[in-house]
Amino acid sequence: MRLLVALLLILAPPAAAELRGHGGPVKAIAVSPDGAHVVSGSFDQSAILWSPARGAAEAVLRLHEGAVDAVAFLPDGRFVTGGEDGRIVLWREGGRGPVRVFAGHEARVAAVAAAPDGERIASAAWDRSVRVWPLDGGEPRIFRGHTENTVNAVGWLPDGSAVVSAGYDGTVRLWPLAGTPRVLAEVGFPLNALAVLPDGTVAAAGAAGTVYLIPPGGPPRTLDGGTAPLITLAANRDGTRLAAGGIRGSVAIWALPEGRLIRSLTGPGLPVWAAAFAPDGVLWTGGSDRRVRRWDPETGAHLGGAVAGPEEEAASDHPGARVFRACAACHTLKGDSANRAGPTLAGLFGRRIASVPDYPFSEALRGMDIVWTRETVAKLFTLGPATYTPGTRMPEQVVGNAQDLEALLDFLERETGG
Ligand code: HEC
Repeated sequence: MRLLVALLLILAPPAAAELRGHGGPVKAIAVSPDGAHVVSGSFDQSAILWSPARGAAEAVLRLHEGAVDAVAFLPDGRFVTGGEDGRIVLWREGGRGPVRVFAGHEARVAAVAAAPDGERIASAAWDRSVRVWPLDGGEPRIFRGHTENTVNAVGWLPDGSAVVSAGYDGTVRLWPLAGTPRVLAEVGFPLNALAVLPDGTVAAAGAAGTVYLIPPGGPPRTLDGGTAPLITLAANRDGTRLAAGGIRGSVAIWALPEGRLIRSLTGPGLPVWAAAFAPDGVLWTGGSDRRVRRWDPETGAHLGGAVAGPEEEAASDHPGARVFRACAACHTLKGDSANRAGPTLAGLFGRRIASVPDYPFSEALRGMDIVWTRETVAKLFTLGPATYTPGTRMPEQVVGNAQDLEALLDFLERETGG
């Protein structure tokens, strides 16, 4: 099943400017409250926990049976993921294993949001419902009222008194934890995304290029300038910037409260499914190009996500170093595998598969009888990990170009000391 949905990651020309690691479109992104971590969810069925400072993946999390469409951090640094399998998973800080699985949604979980007090999470799913789950377990509250199955977005009012949601029925709905639900706005077109500003204003966007702003108690107003259809919305921490990403690959940024369009970031021309601001104002985006990108929303500059480590810098004159950038997020060449999502490649050639001590290899890899040589590593990236090492936790990818493959092998031989 996993094989069927795995997408091939064909190694693209070099671009150190992003975090690479996902084998499919990036569908969701969140930044931790302290800015030290980013978590991304992908169509490749994994979530990746990144350290932006090191440009490295710290953990690849696989538990969902289907795309990971939703991610959110809790105030304490733990995070939740929601998936196509209808489940929500609460993960330990640092991604060190799941704490709890929340099951009950009957379809894809499209969005999750943590309550300001960190004691509950809200979810929106394509089963027409919005749910509020106590984190310590216990029965969820189920809110029904949307008139179409596809409920796409969910958020909390800043005081934690109510959840808001939006969906294909074109409504933004308010679900007080105590009190009567009501429709906040009916915009007349399908809605894909929402963001709640610190003053309680709800921003919602969807099939049109217009963003709706619904202030608490006041009449809605609109922001124009987005490229329809819009599929993700994010507000910065103090509510002075709002970003909207679209299916055509651009991201519009408005200054609030004025509502002035200040920038339109042009991405790779592919859908931008996810956006999130870091506490320092940097904007993170994820999309169909499988990358996690970092931008300065004020200047529109692409800041880059993957900061090369010292060993990669030192070796960057080698043609294989360029190819290795696609691996560097998860693998070191010397020592310290504990810090990355994959095992260290130090001493790779001549080494038995899954033999690095202290690295938690998958059962699948541990059961295999392969010794890493130029030939077997070449096979790994010609056939693809899913074919050559079925059941592996390494995301699917191939090195499509024979010259690149040779360069990568030369580079590995030189740098891994084998
Ligand atoms: C997003 C993270 C990620 C990326 C990117 C990645 N890998 Fe991996 N790799 C892993 C993980 C995780 C494993 C361990 C898989 C398991 O235990 O099933 C692994 C395993 C391996 C192994 C087997 C190691 C052993 O000790 O048996 C090799 C070789 C390898 N990767 C090479 C590469 C190369 C070369 C690239 C770039 C072309 C690459 N990987 C890209 C995550 C990644």
